[in-house]
Amino acid sequence: MSKIATLEIDGKKYEFPIVEGTENELAIDIKSLRASSNVITLDPGYKNTGSCESAITFLDGEKGILRYRGYSIEELADKASFLEVCFLLIFGELPTQEELSKFHKDIKGQSIVDEDMKRILDGFPKSAHPMGVLASLTNALVAFNPSSVNVDSEEDMYKAIVKILGKFPVLVAWTMRKKMSLPLNYGDTSLGYVENIHKMMFQQPNEDYKVDRTFIEALDKLLILHADHEQNCSTSTVRIVGSSHSGLFASLSAGIAALWGPLHGGANQAVIEMLEAIKADGGDTSKFILKAKDKNDPFRLMGFGHRVYKNFDPRAKIIKKAADEVLGELGIEDPILDIAKGLEKVALEDEYFISRNLYPNVDFYSGIIYRALGIPTDMFTVMFALGRLPGWIAQWKEMRLGKEPIGRPRQVYTGYTHRAFKTRSER
Ligand code: ACO
Repeated sequence: MSKIATLEIDGKKYEFPIVEGTENELAIDIKSLRASSNVITLDPGYKNTGSCESAITFLDGEKGILRYRGYSIEELADKASFLEVCFLLIFGELPTQEELSKFHKDIKGQSIVDEDMKRILDGFPKSAHPMGVLASLTNALVAFNPSSVNVDSEEDMYKAIVKILGKFPVLVAWTMRKKMSLPLNYGDTSLGYVENIHKMMFQQPNEDYKVDRTFIEALDKLLILHADHEQNCSTSTVRIVGSSHSGLFASLSAGIAALWGPLHGGANQAVIEMLEAIKADGGDTSKFILKAKDKNDPFRLMGFGHRVYKNFDPRAKIIKKAADEVLGELGIEDPILDIAKGLEKVALEDEYFISRNLYPNVDFYSGIIYRALGIPTDMFTVMFALGRLPGWIAQWKEMRLGKEPIGRPRQVYTGYTHRAFKTRSER
């Protein structure tokens, strides 16, 4: 029998159905709340609000579970390639070899970015943050691909998807190369998806490209770990912008802007900056733990805490192990890794962090790997965006195909009630 929730307001009772997900999550369906009772719910930060039903990613913050389309993140990070995960997230199933080859071929066929885009990039100062540049370039793609996607046409939808998967890595590479004063280049269609990203980012104009397996495997894994995370800030942004029927590229550009913030994807850059600051200060982690606990100090332990994970972030476990492996393979001894481990140890034994369920999140160790791979610090969040791209696409597609209504929250107004206008001389 389906469950019912009863709400009583001023002695009057209202009944609402309870929706149950496939993992037994329960939600009170309040679609009829306002119409029947003239009351709305208030939930700043949407801490208790489900904005949609979704079949893409499942996570259980208490048990530390993360699955894409039912497959565990541990297995995917170990056994799948990033491109397979892109296909899985966007189309719902792991691809056959034939499907994967066609998908890759179609992406490569769309990997040319209009030369005029280079002039837009040229307009940015070198000091511009790469996330701002990437968001702008992604939005600028709309101007070069003006026809809107007919979401009712599978073919049209597919074309838009392979187009952005083809062009986005070029924009990422250009964003970095511009900052490093390297000539802008194009990909190489003979290479794998992630291999090609490596080449586009790092090939020197006076050298042949050298495949770097450690780089490619580490980046592939990091991209998989970042590929989706259900209704987080940037994904919700993509869905809500797309819900007004803005196009895919414009919605993605908004998602990039949301990801940029240090409380979200920007944390990977902020973590390294924090670890650098601790190192420069002599390496005393306990001093920074005290700062993080001090309510009069705005400092937060970056890379710690998560809105949903209240036990551990399964991605952080995989990344911590990968950081050890990558630094070992590259023969790098980074004092920052030791500081990070020391900080984690102290925090995990501290009552403040224990009582608030604050654990390292995905970004605590990812920056250390990016740094070891030679990626500049201000590009870390761009790499996150590269990984999150298939998740954003999958969520946008689900939202559009599900014919979801325009996202439009309500509010409780707390300003002035009506007052008479005062002329300028009366003010
Ligand atoms: N350092 C110190 N204290 C913290 C931290 C932290 N990193 N995170 C949370 N807290 C404290 C808060 O001060 C609060 O304490 P209080 O109850 O005494 O007031 C309590 O823990 C709960 O924190 P909220 O901010 O209410 O939790 P929320 O779910 O809103 O925020 C967030 C989650 C934004 C991730 C937060 O933990 C944070 O700012 N972390 C640091 C930034 C970060 O690493 N972000 C990346 C997240 S992962 C991602 O987006 C990819």
